[in-house]
Amino acid sequence: MIVSPSVLSCDFGNIERDVKMLHSSDAQWIHIDVMDGVFVPNISFGFPVLDVIRKHTNKVLDVHLMIQNPDNYILDFKKYGADILTVHYEACTHLHRTIHAIKESGMQAGVALNPHTPVQLLEEVISDLDLVLIMSVNPGFGGQKFIPSSVQKVSKLANLISQKNSKAIIEVDGGVNLETGLLLKNAGVQALVAGSFVFGSENPVETISQLKHI
Ligand code: DX5
Ligand code: ZN
Repeated sequence: MIVSPSVLSCDFGNIERDVKMLHSSDAQWIHIDVMDGVFVPNISFGFPVLDVIRKHTNKVLDVHLMIQNPDNYILDFKKYGADILTVHYEACTHLHRTIHAIKESGMQAGVALNPHTPVQLLEEVISDLDLVLIMSVNPGFGGQKFIPSSVQKVSKLANLISQKNSKAIIEVDGGVNLETGLLLKNAGVQALVAGSFVFGSENPVETISQLKHI
């Protein structure tokens, strides 16, 4: 299991310390939530924070854009060190163009689906994708309750991926802990995002390792 701890739940007064902790952990990826206050009802952070994170780790930076018009910022995210760039299906009118612009910039391309968006809508682009991010909460905030129907949605996505011979990785984001993580693993998830479960635990390094070996 790939573990992608979300820095949204870190202590921003001690971001260097927290990123170094993630760097020393078993986490293969680091999840970075960018929110614009328009696509989602919250504002998180942007390039200066990404820059600081990149300076303290060479792990894969898994950037989740919860913003309108992501096309305008693709090259900047590449410049600031993103490895995987995930855009929301619901924020992209010309999704095919956006996916290819991300790949041409040299990053891996992901698409995130809100809880109400069916996986079938990815049928025409699934072969082009490196990653699909299933949101198991409504995006915008850490610490929300897992939506149980997300498990079935993962199974549907796993079927679509195998039907279309796609190499896309299935990642899930929102309300992930050891219990929901196990259900998701059994449904075919390959990468788990976890924010409050990791940073709210007594020993985040140990929690990351437990998720990895779930
Ligand atoms: C929510 C973000 C998540 C968030 C997850 O909109 O996309 O990545 O950090 O937080 P938890 O793991 O606490 O649900
Ligand atoms: Zn996220």
